[in-house]
Amino acid sequence: TRQYTIDVIAGDGIGQEVMPAALRCVDALADAHGFTVRWRERDWGSDHYRAHGRMMPADGIEQLASGDGVLLGAVGAPDIPDDVTLWGLLIPIRREFHQYVNLRPIRILPGVTSPLRGLDELDLVVVRENIEGEYSEVGGRLYRGRPEEMAVQESVFTRAGVTRIARYAAELAQQRSGRLVSATKSNGIIHTMPFWDEVVEATAAEYQGVTVERVLIDALAARMVLKPRSVDVVVASNLFGDILSDLAAGAAGSIGVAPSANLNPEKTHPSMFEPVHGSAPDIAGQGIANPVGTMWAAAMMLDHLGEGGAARHLESAFEQAMAGGTLTGDLGGTASTEEFTQAVLARCATAP
Ligand code: NAD
Ligand code: IPM
Ligand code: MN
Repeated sequence: TRQYTIDVIAGDGIGQEVMPAALRCVDALADAHGFTVRWRERDWGSDHYRAHGRMMPADGIEQLASGDGVLLGAVGAPDIPDDVTLWGLLIPIRREFHQYVNLRPIRILPGVTSPLRGLDELDLVVVRENIEGEYSEVGGRLYRGRPEEMAVQESVFTRAGVTRIARYAAELAQQRSGRLVSATKSNGIIHTMPFWDEVVEATAAEYQGVTVERVLIDALAARMVLKPRSVDVVVASNLFGDILSDLAAGAAGSIGVAPSANLNPEKTHPSMFEPVHGSAPDIAGQGIANPVGTMWAAAMMLDHLGEGGAARHLESAFEQAMAGGTLTGDLGGTASTEEFTQAVLARCATAP
């Protein structure tokens, strides 16, 4: 049997609730699909920070490097500044492992009613650049104690960085509808965006059957609410992709269902899989968080490992549970995390 070593960082808040739910499902499937997973559970996150003054050990990245992938719940705690928690764990993993693709598919899952009137089907993918752009470390500074007090941060778009995300997105569009939407803001104000357009369009032009439509981010946000089905694959910069992926998840009913794959497509480093949502301090500890985003992320991890059969099984297990009317509160249901997980597990134990 094939064996995988996966690092598990449940992290903060509801990360501690949704992660066990996903791990139990994968464990329930593994045998029947001919593989085993060795989970290396890491107690990293805000508790680790409170105890040791760091979100993860100094050699944390090296520890993860020997594994086949990382599953992450969420990070973020109300009593610790977000820049400490994020720059101490999530962002270094994305960067050190060159996870430059953040793949965020979304669908309206069975049993869910979209908040958008009349929308009963949605199936789109946000391909988010995950390393550079607006999330750069260049020039990030707050100049205090002077009359012209100000905060500055530079965006960084490299030709190599934009080319590789455009390639990934164009290839995906080629396998899907051929329609690629590029989220931009090149109407003369944001100086980096004409370069984004130039590189995305030149790159995508190499892909037969792929058309790129350049849409300004503000108009695109409206279009994804008004005509979401006119969008299939979106390629977006780091910040634009972050925002659009929550918007798309909202259109599909809840950010609790949305998955995210931080991919190193070359597989020279581990990739990381996580739900799109955060630590949700407002509902943490109540046992009501929706674990679907994490389960779906685990299915994306199985796909990445080459276990497509198990990935489809896991997806159909949570889809069937939802179709059967078992839904958590964010989707208008009454199931607890545990009740929902039981409904999924019942479908992991049997053939899909
Ligand atoms: P959030 O995603 O944690 O929560 C937003 C809203 O969605 C909340 O009302 C929450 O209850 C709800 N929600 C989120 N996930 C849910 C789920 N699985 N089931 C049911 N409801 C769910 O975003 P936020 O409140 O803006 O951020 C909270 C903290 O999380 C912050 O510290 C932020 O920096 C961090 N954060 C971390 C990640 C990550 O670890 N990748 C992602 C986003 C935010
Ligand atoms: C996400 C999150 C992160 C991001 C934050 C927590 C830094 O919102 O994964 O979508 O913006 O990348
Ligand atoms: Mn986000």
